[in-house]
Amino acid sequence: MSAAQKLYEGKAKILYTTEDPQILLTHFKDDATAFNAQKRGSIVGKGEINCAISSHLFQMLEAQGIPTHYLDRPSPNEMRVKNVKIVPLEVVVRNIAAGSLCQQTGLPLGKVLPQPLVEFYYKNDALGDPLLTRDRLLLMELATPAQVDQLQTMAQQINRILTDFFAQCGITLVDFKLEFGLDAQQTLLLADEISPDTCRLWNQADSDPDRRVMDKDRFRRDLGDVEGAYRQVLERVLAQPIQS
Ligand code: TMP
Repeated sequence: MSAAQKLYEGKAKILYTTEDPQILLTHFKDDATAFNAQKRGSIVGKGEINCAISSHLFQMLEAQGIPTHYLDRPSPNEMRVKNVKIVPLEVVVRNIAAGSLCQQTGLPLGKVLPQPLVEFYYKNDALGDPLLTRDRLLLMELATPAQVDQLQTMAQQINRILTDFFAQCGITLVDFKLEFGLDAQQTLLLADEISPDTCRLWNQADSDPDRRVMDKDRFRRDLGDVEGAYRQVLERVLAQPIQS
């Protein structure tokens, strides 16, 4: 058996090769970063929690017809995934104004958007993940026009499914970030992770703007009990059976 090789280490995950070139192993770390890694820390148990939440959500999305890179979860903080070529875009979907949308537009925090907003950011740490226009991303050849349309459509579909799912958990899905990859057949698959690191999640049972936060904003804004909030999301997510 050939030893697994570290292929790539990111801020929250490490990717390893496996004996099968079509399959990679993702190791979820407890490390947390924010503001392009200017803020660093660790959240106890985050690797296992995010791996478990992401696995459940990928399986749920697959059951609803969304193709993903997910294969299985061989250990608590490891996910086996299809080896895809990651499209260097962060696809952000927003239902409610928060974060950089408020900072850059002046829209008030918590404003419900008339329709979901899909945005594309260039996945490039050196450039600080800048917001792109469609014309810019086509100019940069980050995706073809047909792929941009498909990413937009898939992001909207995923948003509808996730919004309903989190509502069943008593959680409002404020916004989230997706990444996609291309398989050998050039099919777009949902990839990376979906977790409290990559979503803004507000507890519907609490209207207090700080107490309701169940996601990485607790770490970004030093709100305390980050682990407790992540565990609460995990508990509620796992309590929802996967239905097709
Ligand atoms: P933003 O408001 O900071 O642009 O973030 C929008 C959403 O994207 C939010 O749910 C957090 C997520 N996100 C990531 O997953 N990774 C990132 O590097 C950033 C900046 C945001």
